[in-house]
Amino acid sequence: MTLWSETVSSLDDLYVVTDRLDVTPGWVNRSTPIFWDSPRTAFVPARWHYDEVRRSLDDAGRLIDVELAERRNLVLRNPHTGNDFATTRGFACAYQMILPQEVAPTHRHSPHAVRLMIDAVGTYSVVDGERIPMESGDVVLTPGGSWHGHGHDGHEPAYWFDALDIPLVHLLEPMRYEEHPDRFAPIVSRADTSPYRFRSEDIQARLDAAPSAPDGTHGPKIWLDAPEMPSMGLTVERLASGTTTTPHRSNANRVFVVMDGSGTTTAGDTELTWSRGDTVVVPTWSTYHHAATSDATLFGVSDEPVMRALNYYRE
Ligand SMILES: [Fe+2]
Repeated sequence: MTLWSETVSSLDDLYVVTDRLDVTPGWVNRSTPIFWDSPRTAFVPARWHYDEVRRSLDDAGRLIDVELAERRNLVLRNPHTGNDFATTRGFACAYQMILPQEVAPTHRHSPHAVRLMIDAVGTYSVVDGERIPMESGDVVLTPGGSWHGHGHDGHEPAYWFDALDIPLVHLLEPMRYEEHPDRFAPIVSRADTSPYRFRSEDIQARLDAAPSAPDGTHGPKIWLDAPEMPSMGLTVERLASGTTTTPHRSNANRVFVVMDGSGTTTAGDTELTWSRGDTVVVPTWSTYHHAATSDATLFGVSDEPVMRALNYYRE
């Protein structure tokens, strides 16, 4: 038999030819289907207690030297089989700690990154040469491709949560990573306010004036604008003590970090209790609601803007 069609007299003959051509017949049954009827994921609802992870970070602070300070973080690995990195399908989140007087070398990479400072006094970020404070309650952005580093002039260890869209970059494969040729890029300016810093007091002032959802799906809520980081939807919402939100389901993958207060998030059949600093994951298409047992504030990171931009978003 040759590659010429006139010699193909059976499907088996045809499959020999299609195999050589690196094409797969669309009509054969596959062990893994291509389509399914509604969103499904291997990622599970999950929660990490900040106090527990922070203890391990303190241990790492004793055991890992300043050369590795930039990578002294603990990645929130979604506990599904075979996963050792991603927190949701598109995001890798971590808690990170920096010790007084440490400085992380300047570098840049394709993935976008956001930080929520949990316990930090005297810490700063340097983005494209501008030094900005990043302290407890602040949200700080490092858009993909920007030179960035950070340091700590305070007296106590500092802790934060960060989220990067690394798994999304792995999927689409535009990864780049580069260390700065001078190791520490010079600081050319200092600023207190920046498009890359959402100050704690500004966030709280905006929340004071923010509306709740008429359908009860969230309390007073604001969006933090990050136009250079369109893969991430960043929100902050408040829940008054005793409030239970109306159950909600969408195909966005969501991460919530507790800025303040305590309560429970129910995602599908999973109940996840939380208090200050904890992180909760609600994967795609999980029906979820929050119940606050004290006045609470939740920072949210989601891929909702990606779902919307691609016209996939449904709720
Ligand atoms: Fe980085």
